[in-house]
Amino acid sequence: MDSLFDTEQSTTTGGGANVGTSARDRKKAAEANAMKLLPKIIEASRWGQQDAAEKIGRDIAQIIETTHPTVAQKILKQFAGAMRPTKIVRRPDELVDFCEARHGLDDVILPEAVERGCRAVVMEHQRMNELAQFKLAPRHKILLYGPPGNGKTLLAEGLAKELDLPFLPVKYAGMIESYLGSTGKNLQSIFDYAATAPCVLFMDEFDGVAIDRGDSKDVGEIRRVTNQLLILLDRLPPTCMFVAATNADELLDRAIQRRFDFVLQLPAPTQDLRRRCAERELAPSMTPGHDVTCHAEAVAGLPLANLSGLVKLCQRIRRDLVLNGGAGVHAIIADAAAN
Ligand SMILES: Nc1ncnc2c1ncn2[C@@H]1O[C@H](COP(=O)(O)OP(=O)(O)O)[C@@H](O)[C@H]1O
Ligand SMILES: [Mg+2]
Repeated sequence: MDSLFDTEQSTTTGGGANVGTSARDRKKAAEANAMKLLPKIIEASRWGQQDAAEKIGRDIAQIIETTHPTVAQKILKQFAGAMRPTKIVRRPDELVDFCEARHGLDDVILPEAVERGCRAVVMEHQRMNELAQFKLAPRHKILLYGPPGNGKTLLAEGLAKELDLPFLPVKYAGMIESYLGSTGKNLQSIFDYAATAPCVLFMDEFDGVAIDRGDSKDVGEIRRVTNQLLILLDRLPPTCMFVAATNADELLDRAIQRRFDFVLQLPAPTQDLRRRCAERELAPSMTPGHDVTCHAEAVAGLPLANLSGLVKLCQRIRRDLVLNGGAGVHAIIADAAAN
C-alpha cells in the first residue's frame, strides 16, 4: 500500500520564493494536522466504531483536500455507496483472501471487443459519482467464461489493479469443502465482508456454487444455496465489483446468469491472440542481449490449447537464452510442435 503522503506531487508552483515557501508551509501544516488524527482513526477502527472512523476519515480528507487531492479522493472513495456496514466486519480468513493486485489490464491479452468492454466498465466505476447523480450505478456484476488458461483470473486481478482496489479472491475449497450445510452461511460471510468498502470480489469455479438447480442430486441444499446467492447478488452494493469465472457456463443456473450485468467470453486463443501474446513474451525487453522475435511467429503457430501454455513455452525459451545462450531454442519449439 502507498503510504498516505507519498503519492502527491509538490504543490509548489515555483513563482517567487515567498509563494514557494508558503505553499510548502501549507502542505507541512496539513500533513501535521492530518497526522494528529491517525491514532484516532486507528483507535476507532480497532473498536469497531464505524461512524467515528468515517467522521475522522472525512476530517482528514478535508484537511488535505487542496494539498493532497489524490489522497483525499482515495479516502472519500472509501465512504462511497449507500450500503455501509454498521460495524467493522472481520475478514473470514478461511473463505477469502485480501490481496494487492499486481497485474493491470495491459498485462492481459484480450480480444479487442472484450478489452473495450472492460475499459468501459472501469470508467463507469471511476465516475460512479457522476452516474449516481442520475440514479445510475456502474455495472458491477461480471461473469467471465471460457476454457481454462486464457486469462479469466488474470483479468479479474487486472480490473482490481486498474481501479486501484483490493483484490479479494474467494477460497473455493474453504467455501465448499466444509460440510455442505454451511455453504450458505459462508457465502453470507464473504458478501458481508466484501460490502465493507470498495473492492473487487473474485469467485473462481463459479459453476461449483451456482450450479443448475435441475442438475443436482442434493436438490434441497443446492436450491437453498442458489436462492441465497440470488439474494446476495441483488443486495451487493455497486462499490463492490463482483467477478465470477467459470469454464462451464452451461452449468450455471439461468436465474443466476441473468443477475450479471456484464458477461464476457474469453475464448480459446485465436491466431491473432497467440501472435500478440508470443510477440510480447519474446520481446527484446524480455530477452536482453538476444533478439528472438523471429521465433514469435513459429510459437504463435503451434496448436497450443491456451495462452497459459504459450506463456510457459516462452518462459522455457527465455530460460534457455539465459542459461545456454539460446542453443536449445529450436529443440524447445520442435518439442512443443510434436506434442
Ligand atoms: N489472456 C492472457 N493474457 C496474458 N497472459 C495470459 C492470458 N491467459 C493466460 N495467461 C497466462 O496464463 C496464466 C494462467 O491464466 P489464468 O488467468 O489463470 O487463466 P484462467 O483463469 O482462464 O484459467 C496467467 O497467469 C498468464 O501467465
Ligand atoms: Mg482461473
